[in-house]
Amino acid sequence: MAQLINGKEVSQRVRESVRAETEAFKAETGITPGLAVILVGDDPASKIYVGNKKKACAEVGFNSFEHILPAETTEAELLELIEKLNADPAVHGILCQLPLPRHIDERAVINAISPKKDVDAFHPQNVGRIMIGSYDFLPCTPAGVMELIHSAGISVNGKNCTVVGRSNIVGKPMAMLLLHENGTVTVCHSRTKDLKAACLNADILVAAVGKAKLITADMVKEGAAVIDVGMNRDENGKLCGDVDFENVKEKASYITPVPGGVGPMTIAMLMRNTLTAAKLFNRG
Ligand code: GUN
Repeated sequence: MAQLINGKEVSQRVRESVRAETEAFKAETGITPGLAVILVGDDPASKIYVGNKKKACAEVGFNSFEHILPAETTEAELLELIEKLNADPAVHGILCQLPLPRHIDERAVINAISPKKDVDAFHPQNVGRIMIGSYDFLPCTPAGVMELIHSAGISVNGKNCTVVGRSNIVGKPMAMLLLHENGTVTVCHSRTKDLKAACLNADILVAAVGKAKLITADMVKEGAAVIDVGMNRDENGKLCGDVDFENVKEKASYITPVPGGVGPMTIAMLMRNTLTAAKLFNRG
């Protein structure tokens, strides 16, 4: 039976370290880190995420600025708001909750956010810097996964790592972070011919596709570490990941649950990135 990697506990430790560092940073500089969160439209899941971000900011001692805009907001209006936030010295991090309504070009919005305030690390300049291993920010979810791997004392060096999913937000940067730690990385996606073989080869398996229980026990190597980024509903409407947890846990050596695994890490890493952004601002 696998050892559970407890994301709630690890994220609490990260948040506590950000809180303590923030206290020292404020005392030294008089600057309170500020995070602006933009939400366009009223997707219920996004509203919950935005509420959680506000709560986390209060807990670590940041200012938070919420901008909840109607679904009819035009791209020009959104870009104008971003320009204002880019110029606002009280705002050190800007996060625009994705997905955006269809009439708004997501790429144009991401490109408009100042790379210095891009706490999601979605701007092409930050993506490029991650590729060459010289970065200020890492995208929150992959950074959270690395934190979980480290917390369990798992070494990536020389291991076979399989990432299932190739999104810009998770899969692609995830592969890069594992590569930076000398993993031998395979990235799988919907056109992969033999997903099972690629998964069975993995010492570290990261699932980030958004398909309930796609990864079954017969696809997992005995003793593998399995990290589940998925957040889905099963046939009974119950929250579940991309991994068939009940069966895979009998085969893996480490596994993250859903909920309580990767999920809480994302916000914790966002707090860390916002503090980093405030420190960059202070350095000028
Ligand atoms: N929507 C789902 N995940 C994310 C994320 O990490 N950042 C933003 N901005 N939007 C998201």
